[in-house]
Amino acid sequence: MLVASGATSTATASPARALVGDASGVHVMEASGAPWELTPLDRPVRAAATLPGDVLLAATDEAVLVHGAFTGLSGLTEALTPPVRRLQAAGGDLWVQDADGLALWRDGWLHRVLVDDAPVTGPVAADAGRAWVGTSSRAVLVSRTADGWAVADGLSGGGTEAVAWDLAGTAWVLQDGTVWQRVTSGWVALELPEATDVLAHPRAVGAWIDTAEGWWHATADTLRRMALDPLDDASVDDGGRLVGRRGDEAVRVHPESRVVLAGLEPWTSLDEPVDVLLVPTRPESLAEVRVTLDGAELEVLEDPLRVRLTPGALEAAVHTLAATATWLDGARHGAPQLPFLTGDVELVTWEGQIRPLLQDRCGVCHENGTETILASKADFVANLDAVIDAVSVGRMPLAGAKLTPAEVDLVVRWQAGGTP
Ligand code: HEC
Repeated sequence: MLVASGATSTATASPARALVGDASGVHVMEASGAPWELTPLDRPVRAAATLPGDVLLAATDEAVLVHGAFTGLSGLTEALTPPVRRLQAAGGDLWVQDADGLALWRDGWLHRVLVDDAPVTGPVAADAGRAWVGTSSRAVLVSRTADGWAVADGLSGGGTEAVAWDLAGTAWVLQDGTVWQRVTSGWVALELPEATDVLAHPRAVGAWIDTAEGWWHATADTLRRMALDPLDDASVDDGGRLVGRRGDEAVRVHPESRVVLAGLEPWTSLDEPVDVLLVPTRPESLAEVRVTLDGAELEVLEDPLRVRLTPGALEAAVHTLAATATWLDGARHGAPQLPFLTGDVELVTWEGQIRPLLQDRCGVCHENGTETILASKADFVANLDAVIDAVSVGRMPLAGAKLTPAEVDLVVRWQAGGTP
């Protein structure tokens, strides 16, 4: 983020360079502070991006300007329909939102994506070939596949005002003042005052949420109010910090210290080795991170910080990965545990086995009227010790067939696996 007085628009392209558009043209600002001109043009810059080789792109309402030695880009600028509203580079891909919708430029080709459902916000690309896009009716994850495109993980139901996606793969979508966070089983609405923006950086963990009552910071498992006055021009940098301006003052705020496990969805069944990343929200203040697998210490590899899970070396079971970070000020924080499966262990879930087995059978008497309410998943989880006790000894169900030992075992395994 760059704050230049008198600029009509600014856009950060790389840590060392930024584009500044003002009444006298579009300038490249070097880290040294000396600006040099890209193209004299009396137009604001709508979007900017950098490509490998330190190529800078700047989009105005009429054209895309290219700065740097990259001849293959001429085809790109010709294939686009102005105005170009957004540019985002990730892993050699360039996502473009122009008047015709969403396109991905890669290896010298421009591919049209999401033609019939024009984006209104995004694209937010966190890694090569995948981006979140908000449209007037939904938010979707667009991924490149071997034979074209896949559009998945949609949150429908409203016009999308903002999408954000972080390094840990958590996505946030702002629709009608409500922020939805993607979790393994779908989407949850965050309990927040009316929100106006959600910001994240694809190479950092966590999101910043601007609401009617101030700023909040969210990660996959935390939501915290930040004591912070309103900002003008906020954005998030690649260290996950909120940067912005308040009048003439430049402001930069750190998120709270957290470590997040990324790269493996909870309850995945592993059949090949995988690296799980340990991503601190404040890398500069991290003293140490320790990881355990089923309680035993696991070697932490560096650059990037990660651990390797090798399913062949583990017995078939439900496993639990846990991480604890120690920060330079001595504070400690444990990441939420990450469960996964190896071998042919079948995952026992509420939807898969437990709901069909128990909900009707117990609900006939326990939906209401009895002291113990057993209607929803949450009710069963809250009473799980008593439930297991009652079905193991055959005390329950009071009427109807008792559970077989194999069925009792399913309930016990559901509890052992963390009641997914
Ligand atoms: C025919 C009616 C009926 C059915 C079916 C039934 N219960 Fe009950 N259950 C009762 C009554 C009555 C009580 C005593 C009042 C209370 O605690 O709610 C009870 C109590 C309980 C309790 C608390 C006391 C204890 O014994 O531990 C648990 C736990 C329980 N039931 C679990 C279950 C489960 C699990 C199922 C299904 C597998 C089930 N019940 C099916 C009628 C029933």
